[in-house]
Amino acid sequence: MSNENVANLLKEERRFAPNAEIADGANVTAHTYAQANADELRFWKNQASRLTWSREPIQTLDWSSPPFAKWFADGELNVAYNCVDRHVEAGLGDRVAIHFEGEPGDSRAITYAELQRDVAQAAHALTALGVHAGDRVAIYLPMIPEAAVAMLACARIGAPHSVVFGGFSADALAARIADAGAQVVITADGGYRRGKQLALKPTVDQALTLDGVGHVRHVLVVRRTGQDVAMKDGRDEWWHEALAGQPEDHTPVAFGAEHPLFILYTSGTTGKPKGILHTSGGYLTQAAYTHHAVFDLKPETDVYWCTADVGWITGHSYIVYGPLANGATQVMYEGTPDAPHRGRFWEIIAKYGVSLLYTAPTAIRTFMKWGEHIPADYDLTSLRVLGSVGEPINPEAWIWYWEHIGGGRCPIVDTWWQTETGAMMISPLPGVTVTKPGAAQTPLPGISATVVDDGGNEAPDGVGGYLVLERPWPAMLRTIWGDDQRYIDTYWKRFGNRYFAGDGAKKDEDGDIWLMGRVDDVMLVSGHNISTAEVESALVSHPQVAEAAVVGVADATTGQAIVAFVIMRGGVPEDGPLAGELRAHVARTLGPIAKPQRVLCVPELPKTRSGKIMRRLLRDVAENRELGDVTTLTDPAVMHLIKDGLPTANNKS
Ligand code: WT7
Repeated sequence: MSNENVANLLKEERRFAPNAEIADGANVTAHTYAQANADELRFWKNQASRLTWSREPIQTLDWSSPPFAKWFADGELNVAYNCVDRHVEAGLGDRVAIHFEGEPGDSRAITYAELQRDVAQAAHALTALGVHAGDRVAIYLPMIPEAAVAMLACARIGAPHSVVFGGFSADALAARIADAGAQVVITADGGYRRGKQLALKPTVDQALTLDGVGHVRHVLVVRRTGQDVAMKDGRDEWWHEALAGQPEDHTPVAFGAEHPLFILYTSGTTGKPKGILHTSGGYLTQAAYTHHAVFDLKPETDVYWCTADVGWITGHSYIVYGPLANGATQVMYEGTPDAPHRGRFWEIIAKYGVSLLYTAPTAIRTFMKWGEHIPADYDLTSLRVLGSVGEPINPEAWIWYWEHIGGGRCPIVDTWWQTETGAMMISPLPGVTVTKPGAAQTPLPGISATVVDDGGNEAPDGVGGYLVLERPWPAMLRTIWGDDQRYIDTYWKRFGNRYFAGDGAKKDEDGDIWLMGRVDDVMLVSGHNISTAEVESALVSHPQVAEAAVVGVADATTGQAIVAFVIMRGGVPEDGPLAGELRAHVARTLGPIAKPQRVLCVPELPKTRSGKIMRRLLRDVAENRELGDVTTLTDPAVMHLIKDGLPTANNKS
């Protein structure tokens, strides 16, 4: 990556110091960095004592055969006991674990004592179906408390779960069931989404007719919507019937710290998804520690809400494992932000007094598009800390979040991490960091991250390069399920024994890290590397642009040319004089080299389940190719909307 990128993003000069109240009472202070730096392993060993172990670990890290790490390997624990039972034993049984808010407006508060009973019965039910430690269970559910119960029940009996996002198709589901060799699938009749009942069970039925899933013996079906479903004799059983009559207590069995906890599939650059394997003790240690540190969680008084879906890693680490290990009270919401109206999120925050909010830049930009008058109608004064995750947050969105949601008083923590890292890695700390809009800034205590050039040498401050993690960390992936070689090749080949995250990044003159997007998204225009993140950030800094995605397409003259897809605030007709204005705006903001060759107005952008723009598909459209794999899109119909609205896309000038 070239220097001109660097200069551009670093023009962001606004700084926000933590407010006195947060700084004075913060869980973690500046001193912690020094402590952790002095002895990283000792630091993590201390953090492991947040958990309750049946057998305390003596070992910390075993890195004797890199890149295969073992953390706390001689320790034993039960993850579900740590997330549930121990809080009840500590006298907190009446504390609400989950305030569930269904999309149609139904709600349910589940205490830790109730969660303990549900998890116990579910664990017995799985055992009764013949599930043993080590057997895999696929979970395909909407955002309902049973998803957390199912995950914890699997953890309790040592059966690794593989949660598949409820929006995935039968093909995508079958591929994941097949790869993991799951014997049981837990699903629901359906869920609510945008005011409609979305069926899930028929998708499971269809998936189970496909090749490679013959090992599935049982399907448990949660009743959520009450819609009609076909039940196959001998295979399918209602969840509530399977749990009814099971004992309300269950003795947890301790497993080794390296016992597999779950597999979670993430899309690779090629077709076959990667089954990211996470294990128990190290994963839970880092998930719990980071949730405590980065949100400054005070479990007695805070109400936490992560708007992610349990079908992706944010839901695993920051709805289920981290918050519950910490005894937090949280909100879980089933539906979309616009059902039944565009103030739904803010209504929920006011209703439950949410103090810690964790959401994604894509959602924030949607709220910007809808207008600040919507949150202005709600009481958001309970908020204390605001989190962001999933992609670089452009300064415009950061400032909007700060002003219109945080009321100019809540620190924003821009948390960089990945499915593979298992837990947060780079983030401001709310009581410590002077934040910079658009930067994740600082590796968390105990984490080592830096930026290197093509040759693997440390990139000087201010010069872009590749983000690498220098030393192993407790929540790191252990391998790709069934494919150790792919694990080595994907993450550990390029820069020796350092982990390559696949992201471009740079450090500023203070040593703070700015993420630049995936390196496969970098464009090469007339010999200059230009990051998609930067051009997009420039586009959305124009008052009429709500969202933007840019791609590099083959160009005979410049190698690649930049094509921008933009969603206008309030919907302006495509092309016209506005395209010219936006091109000029980018040229002014970033320099003429970054000026898009074409600007196309679209109604939507294709996004993955985790809210990331699938630029690969936009490249297909811009280069007039057949569309590649669309199964990981939240809504495959979006591509038709885009193609149909774009006569110019098929007609390259
Ligand atoms: C990729 C990982 C982390 C859980 C959600 C996504 C991008 C994530 C940030 C951030 C800049 C970010 C990176 C990363 N990303 N958070 N705060 N700033 N980029 O998990 O689907 O595994 O994606 O998301 O490109 O590599 P994932």
